[in-house]
Amino acid sequence: MVPTAVECTGRVVEQAPLARDTFRLRLECPEIAEQIVPGQFFMIRIPGGSDPLLGRPFALYDVARDADGRAVAIDFVYHVIGKVTGLLAGWSGGERVELWGPLGNGFPVPRAGHLVCVGGGIGYTPFLAVAREAAGQRRYGNPGRAVAEKASRVTLLYGVQTRDVRADLSDFADIPRFSHRISTDDGSEGRAGFVTELLREMLTDETERPAAVYCCGPEPMMRATAALCAEHEAPCWLSLETPMACGFGACFSCVTRVRVDEDPGWDYRRTCVEGPVFSSASLLLE
Ligand SMILES: Cc1cc2nc3c(=O)[nH]c(=O)nc-3n(C[C@H](O)[C@H](O)[C@H](O)COP(=O)(O)OP(=O)(O)OC[C@H]3O[C@@H](n4cnc5c(N)ncnc54)[C@H](O)[C@@H]3O)c2cc1C
Ligand code: FES
Repeated sequence: MVPTAVECTGRVVEQAPLARDTFRLRLECPEIAEQIVPGQFFMIRIPGGSDPLLGRPFALYDVARDADGRAVAIDFVYHVIGKVTGLLAGWSGGERVELWGPLGNGFPVPRAGHLVCVGGGIGYTPFLAVAREAAGQRRYGNPGRAVAEKASRVTLLYGVQTRDVRADLSDFADIPRFSHRISTDDGSEGRAGFVTELLREMLTDETERPAAVYCCGPEPMMRATAALCAEHEAPCWLSLETPMACGFGACFSCVTRVRVDEDPGWDYRRTCVEGPVFSSASLLLE
């Protein structure tokens, strides 16, 4: 069941650099932390002014718990590109933000077999919680989402432009049966070229074949991932990063085209409510 979104004030409790212009921020807000599941997101607004006026969406990276195991805070990872992320980067603790969430549908509960997560740039961030849940290391939501059968392996294929902007992946280090492969556009680390080349290798190797592919990143990368998965008949889900104004279904600024049975064969869906995660087969990717 999708939890009801709540509005609350979040307090910054920790900020850590993960790469050039990339930070992990922890916000204390038990109301959202205890409900949110991997692939869901929340909106953050800077209080007390009209510029920036609108909230901004960020995906769950992980939930932080207190000594008694209670979910008390949410972590997210952001790349500094504009007004809100520029402000966040100057914070060191104690600041307050307006928050609403959890929002959206999240990734499906992982299935047995090999789960392959394809992350491009900052799009890798939902996959820490995804991998922990799939490996049976953590549960998310209230009541906690049950994973019927743990994934036999989880692999993160992480593509970035160059080594300097690659985030530190040490948060993933203690996940059982987890591994990662890196590609850089300029060949400064890992495989030279696009991350979809790493995916192509997995799809064509019987010993690596994914039971499911989850993907988040720039649109061209997601289109290429969807096309490869269709060619190799691998189930695939994409988490769209469509710009959003409200985040809760009211403004229709975030619509995307999906296939439907009725004439003319397609319709619009709101990414913030019916997404952000869609099966790639259901989307009309242009
Ligand atoms: C579901 C979802 C989850 C997301 N999760 C994450 C996440 O986990 N981490 C993350 O980093 N991002 C995430 N994003 C993207 C994130 O929401 C945006 O990067 C964020 O809104 C940027 O806010 P900002 O105020 O810093 O940038 P803005 O100021 O809104 O700028 C956004 C873009 O516009 C450009 N721009 C701004 N002003 C101008 C101007 N005057 N002229 C020309 N161009 C301009 C900027 O360069 C930038 O490219 C997610 C998006 C969605 C939809
Ligand atoms: S952002 Fe307003 S309807 Fe989706």
